[in-house]
Amino acid sequence: MGIKIIAVVGARPNYMKVAPIWRELDKNGHVSKMLVHTGQHYDANMSKIFFDDLKLPKPDVYLGVGSGSHGEQTSKVMFEFEKILEREHADLVIVVGDVNSTMAGALVAVKMGVSVAHVEAGLRSFDRTMPEEINRMVTDIVSDLLFTTEPSARKNLLREGVEETKIHFVGNVMIDSLHYYRDKADRSRVLEDLSLKPDGYGLVTLHRPSNVDRTETLRGILDALIELGSDCPMIFPAHPRTRKMIEDNKLLVPPKKLRILDPIGYLDFAKLMMHARLVLTDSGGIQEETTVLGISCLTIRENTERPITLEIGTNRLVGVSAERIVKEGRDALRKPQGRGKIPELWDGRASERIVRVINEYFR
Ligand code: UD1
Repeated sequence: MGIKIIAVVGARPNYMKVAPIWRELDKNGHVSKMLVHTGQHYDANMSKIFFDDLKLPKPDVYLGVGSGSHGEQTSKVMFEFEKILEREHADLVIVVGDVNSTMAGALVAVKMGVSVAHVEAGLRSFDRTMPEEINRMVTDIVSDLLFTTEPSARKNLLREGVEETKIHFVGNVMIDSLHYYRDKADRSRVLEDLSLKPDGYGLVTLHRPSNVDRTETLRGILDALIELGSDCPMIFPAHPRTRKMIEDNKLLVPPKKLRILDPIGYLDFAKLMMHARLVLTDSGGIQEETTVLGISCLTIRENTERPITLEIGTNRLVGVSAERIVKEGRDALRKPQGRGKIPELWDGRASERIVRVINEYFR
């Protein structure tokens, strides 16, 4: 029997999660696939460059929803995606991660009686002020197939009353991409282009509303990074949201210590991570990627929905106070590179397991 699968992507961290699943589905002749891009992220360096780097086929449909408040963005995705689903009669909608497009896609599908698969289910920060936490909870409760990356996710889902038979521990598709593209990333010339020495720079990313939307918080974090920049220069490819805050508020930054760049594509960024002395971030995925690469990571947040990276990986939660970031940063710079274990099933084969479960589901 042929099955029709629609995957929804919308924002930067979605693309590297869908790419390996798409490749795996290609091996299944009975599956017809359709890729829907909501347009939540639209700048070329937040979207197109990733499609190119990951060799992800051009989206079949582009909804063009753009930026907006949460209600506006979520409802626009729902309004537009519902029309697609009415026309296309899919058997399964796959959503990944925890962005607004993830939740919106899942809600439309379940209300139209279409099965939903959530890739990266069950992660919880237990912080409901985080928009992603709400997206994760809502998406999980309406999903039929819940694919998890680490043991904490299963516990969280069971506690919330999700039926055990829906939960499938498959590993981490983001790591599938890292494995698949590692050699190619290693050939990137980004270190030469930016005149960086391997192991001679810190790599920074910052975009959480709780870190960047208030001037005082952002100023404090930037000051800490500048201070660390005296010990080891910091490279900072800034998310558009963060750059806008820095520019609108005229937050001055000495470029020798903290060098602000435009967002960077997948392969160049992977190369920058692989050779960083230290990574400082508030991203979810980067906590996972640095754990696999064995690179020390300081997470500038009070909590993480990815506890395995703290328990056995190279990640450390340092909060948002400038003093603590400097102290922990100096400590990490003094020590040898982070050493940790690679979490179970983060082996580059998660998408294989996902497709096997999907095939079983429709058998
Ligand atoms: C979204 C996700 C977040 C994810 C992040 C990765 C939600 C709730 N948040 O946050 O979980 O970690 O993506 O990047 O879904 N902008 C541009 N160009 C773009 C996209 C955004 O300039 O291509 C600017 C706009 O000013 C926009 C702002 O960034 O208002 C925020 O974009 P939005 O999609 O609302 O959330 P992100 O902060 O990107």
